[in-house]
Amino acid sequence: MTGFSADRLLLFGATGDLAKRMLLPSLCALDADELLDPRLEIVGTARSDLDDQGFRNFAREALEKFLPADRRSGVATFLNRLSYQPLDASSLEGFDKLAEKVGTPEQGLAIFLSTAPSLFEPTIRGLQHGGLSGELVRIGLEKPLGVDLASSHVINDAVATAFPEDRIFRIDHYLGKETVQNLLALRFANMMFEPLWNATHIDHVQITVAETVGLEGRVSFYDDAGALRDMVQNHMLQLLSLVAMEPPVNYDATAVRDEKVKVLRSLRPVEAAETVTGQYRAGAIGGQAVPGYDDELGKESDTETFVAIKAHIDNWRWKNVPFYLRTGKRLPERTTEIIVEFRRVPHSIFPGKAARGEPNKLVIGIQPEENITLSLMAKVPGLDRDGIRLRGVPLDIAMADAFAGPQRRIAYERLLLDLIEGDQTLFVRRDEVEAQWEWVDAIRAEWEEHALTPKSYTAGSWGPSAAIALAERDGVTWHE
Ligand code: BG6
Repeated sequence: MTGFSADRLLLFGATGDLAKRMLLPSLCALDADELLDPRLEIVGTARSDLDDQGFRNFAREALEKFLPADRRSGVATFLNRLSYQPLDASSLEGFDKLAEKVGTPEQGLAIFLSTAPSLFEPTIRGLQHGGLSGELVRIGLEKPLGVDLASSHVINDAVATAFPEDRIFRIDHYLGKETVQNLLALRFANMMFEPLWNATHIDHVQITVAETVGLEGRVSFYDDAGALRDMVQNHMLQLLSLVAMEPPVNYDATAVRDEKVKVLRSLRPVEAAETVTGQYRAGAIGGQAVPGYDDELGKESDTETFVAIKAHIDNWRWKNVPFYLRTGKRLPERTTEIIVEFRRVPHSIFPGKAARGEPNKLVIGIQPEENITLSLMAKVPGLDRDGIRLRGVPLDIAMADAFAGPQRRIAYERLLLDLIEGDQTLFVRRDEVEAQWEWVDAIRAEWEEHALTPKSYTAGSWGPSAAIALAERDGVTWHE
């Protein structure tokens, strides 16, 4: 932890989608569990012309819709913490009134910025103008932080004029997910994995982030971004770096982020032939017909809604171990999982095909269910007159059963609390973001150079068949 625990929280974009679906429900849930300082006051700001009561009504509706009924006990108390100040972030004057509304915190102020990227710079200027960037202020920044390395430099430079790095909290909500952190516990609180966690024993790693949703009304944002920028640059590279990093000396912001950035810097530039992009056409998911991307968008587009990449990390631990990444919208199911596939045994003592066995696999399910499965080879029971038969059997841990008591939390609950209390461990440092962009920009450059356009896939399928071929060329099958 660094410094103070804030007693004021200022939410930019307070009437936006993220606030409605995630931030207000998370804060209310924390409040109901008495995890918020009783003195914490929350000021919302956005363009919408609301007063305090109007914002409370807005929040109440959001909570009724997005917070599970069994976590709504504290709504009335929570709403009392809220107030609101309308703001046109592009004009400096509005920030004086905003500062007045925020008042003088006793301990400190945490700001959460979830606005259009074009408003980042004016907002930072406004905060400085209104005296809202002093030593007792820290700022959380929600993605997208730019569209490439150059634009992320501009944003990071602008923020750095007002806040030092130890008061900047770049959010990647995947880091707030329970199983993502559990990955660190699995790797570094158990003796058995670390000796095997390297190129000698691991054949390859797969990371899949599959979604069933399509555009969800985010027409202009998504079409300018595409799957590579929207999902790979941030969430998938964070997952990859947690899987691949060296053991940090301890679980603190500097040690963990030092190790992650080393992985990101070791990523080998990817060639166009090691990627596949796709865009969904009309199809069906769970028996429901869904339109194609073009139809949802209302025009033709070359934006990828699916991407698969064969990545490599050029360091001692991972030399020549492929990391297959894939993510897409309108895939058959919502799943995020990491598969670590070990090498085959060097020599099989059992004769015959049925005894050849399969490699061990560690499957880390992140969502929708949190579970860890290790598949081990076992002998199929029998007298084996025709020779031993082997089959993979799972060693299964369903986190929900193993820890029936503790509440399952929204990723933003943890991140908001860490922002308020000042713990940067689960936030992304500038050098990480920049290393992520550098790698992703080079992929885009390859696509441009080879005039690569997305291949069609039917909504409800696992993406273009070329994605299957990308893995199968190496004798690898995507885990499904
Ligand atoms: C966001 C992306 O960062 O993550 C969205 O912008 C995506 O396009 C979302 O749907 C996925 O998050 P989760 O937590 O539902 O996996």
